[in-house]
Amino acid sequence: MIGDWLDIGPVDQIAPGTARTLAVQGGEEIAIFHTLDHTFHALVNRCPHKRGPLSQGIVHGSVVTCPLHNWQISLRSGEAQGDDKGCVPVVPLRVDAGRIYLLREAVIPHKAA
Ligand code: FES
Repeated sequence: MIGDWLDIGPVDQIAPGTARTLAVQGGEEIAIFHTLDHTFHALVNRCPHKRGPLSQGIVHGSVVTCPLHNWQISLRSGEAQGDDKGCVPVVPLRVDAGRIYLLREAVIPHKAA
């Protein structure tokens, strides 16, 4: 870990055009995407339509097509594209020295005091 960032492993663990998932506290799952032009994005792994697993969708450009009903979700903003309406949370991500980091506070929710 560096600062408030959580090291989730090397960039080469995710082949271009695919995603992997990371289970986090609260039963939520994060999907980490590697695009064909070698950028990385992280979204909560549930489609804003009916909670489809976005990690199993097809990545094209900076968009993923949900495997259930083909909504297209921006990997940058988490927003549904076109006429579809809805948004899924984006998890801040950065790449440093060949490793992927997620913002810790976005991945591990704070417990109530
Ligand atoms: S659940 Fe994703 S398009 Fe329906």
